[in-house]
Amino acid sequence: MGKYYITTPIYYPSGRLHIGNAYTTVAADTVARFKRIMGYEVFFLTGTDEHGLKIQQKAQQAGKLPKEYVDEIVAGIIELWKVLNISYDKFIRTTDDYHISAVQGIFEKLYNNGDIYISEYEGWYCTPCETFWTKTQLGEKRVCPDCGRSVQHAKEESYFFKMSKYQDRLVEHIENNPDFIQPTTRRNEMISFIKSGLEDLCVSRTTFDWGIKVPFDEKHVVYVWLDALTNYITALGYPDNTDLYQKFWPANVHLVGKDIVRFHTVIWPAILMALEVPLPKQVFAHGWLLLDGGKMSKSRGNVVDPVVLANKYGVDAVRYYILREIAFGADGNFSNELMINRINSDLANDLGNLLSRTVAMVIKYFDGHISGGDEQTEFDDSLKNIALETDEISSEQIDKLLLSGALESIWKFISRTNKYIDETTPWVLAKDEKLHPRLQQVLYNLCESIRLIAAYIQPFMPQTCEEIHKQLGTDDTDRCWNNYGVYNVIKGETLFPRIDLEKELKELENLTV
Ligand code: ME8
Ligand code: MG
Repeated sequence: MGKYYITTPIYYPSGRLHIGNAYTTVAADTVARFKRIMGYEVFFLTGTDEHGLKIQQKAQQAGKLPKEYVDEIVAGIIELWKVLNISYDKFIRTTDDYHISAVQGIFEKLYNNGDIYISEYEGWYCTPCETFWTKTQLGEKRVCPDCGRSVQHAKEESYFFKMSKYQDRLVEHIENNPDFIQPTTRRNEMISFIKSGLEDLCVSRTTFDWGIKVPFDEKHVVYVWLDALTNYITALGYPDNTDLYQKFWPANVHLVGKDIVRFHTVIWPAILMALEVPLPKQVFAHGWLLLDGGKMSKSRGNVVDPVVLANKYGVDAVRYYILREIAFGADGNFSNELMINRINSDLANDLGNLLSRTVAMVIKYFDGHISGGDEQTEFDDSLKNIALETDEISSEQIDKLLLSGALESIWKFISRTNKYIDETTPWVLAKDEKLHPRLQQVLYNLCESIRLIAAYIQPFMPQTCEEIHKQLGTDDTDRCWNNYGVYNVIKGETLFPRIDLEKELKELENLTV
């Protein structure tokens, strides 16, 4: 059986997560579910990145000890993943004991091998990004090149990781492995970034203490990216050669946002090279959900809290919207209005109506029981062909992490199935007794199509798949067109009730003031 190891970034527990943060995890969950359906043994890792100055300051502001502070927020994040149906196999916290001692072991090993040395750091520090910058990197404005916020001058004794030593091997690896960084635009950016010259990396701090202590020099704490990135192997038990580690490392894919590609494709592989650990097969960078064209933050008149949105519209509507709205690697716009429009058109109209019309007709004309038959026409062949084609196309797209494209092709099939109803006009067939065998075949084909649609959307929208199964009277997720099944349908809840846009936007606005 194939193995598949997929990770999300570990999140900073520095406040409530917004819909943009949830994007990475929902995407990873969808891929993990798909791989499990395809028979892979999957390990899906997520977690929290709990150390560093930013968290220490936030805790202070809240009048709490850092651990106390993160415990509360992490509980909220775990709750959020439950609400969003995230099927992770392990949740790692960088404050977990096993992680702390593994990071200390890693630090010591790198030091003993001469890959970490002590020196003095002089530079500018961006606290929100937990990143040091040189004067050249800051540019004329003297602000953080990543987030644009102001930076603090810092000078202190620090340990350094000899990243410069790995520059040539990194370029070679990236150039020889076209899939290592995807999409290609990110790959090209990273190649030119590395070629412009790598500096050694500061990996310890002495000016705050909320972090993992350097084992042989306890006034230093490990600088947060060395602590954070190593989670991908410590979660499997590294440095012990555990069964999990043997089974799942190297990872198939680290799914990350485009803002942290550099950490994952430069620092992380260099650390792994120094540890003589194989590199992950792929780092895939997705784009951002933007609010009015800018980066997401709270209080701009849009509700971005995924828990509120999931409670209002259902978890699957949220999952669908974010995965559908952002195209491969690009940015996408988030707004409550766009979201409600998509729910109404794609979910309530296209999918919801297809199911409710079909169920209603099977009940009306056949008392809810329908089986296949032999009567076939050209309409049926084209429906069957697109049903099977959709499996092929959407599976290939998910394998390439083109999730929005996969949904697009599944929705083409949904539209085609709706069109089949218009072409075959079951209500006309029903009027003529002689045409009842044909009517039976048409309704059977509709049930079969909907059964396949449920199978295809299952990794994206697990709950909706279940609800469709209930109404169709089947839980068969086999991806073949079956001519002789039986459906015992029942009328169920409306999958996605239509939302009154104007009224809803007013309600949402009241929530944000
Ligand atoms: O970066 N749209 O954590 P984080 C899409 N702890 N994705 C977004 C987004 C948006 N508007 N805003 C944030 C960290 N993200 C580190 C990672 S990994 C070893 C350490 C994504 O909580 C962002 O790109 O700031 C990142 O992938 C994830 O949320 C976590 O961000
Ligand atoms: Mg961030």
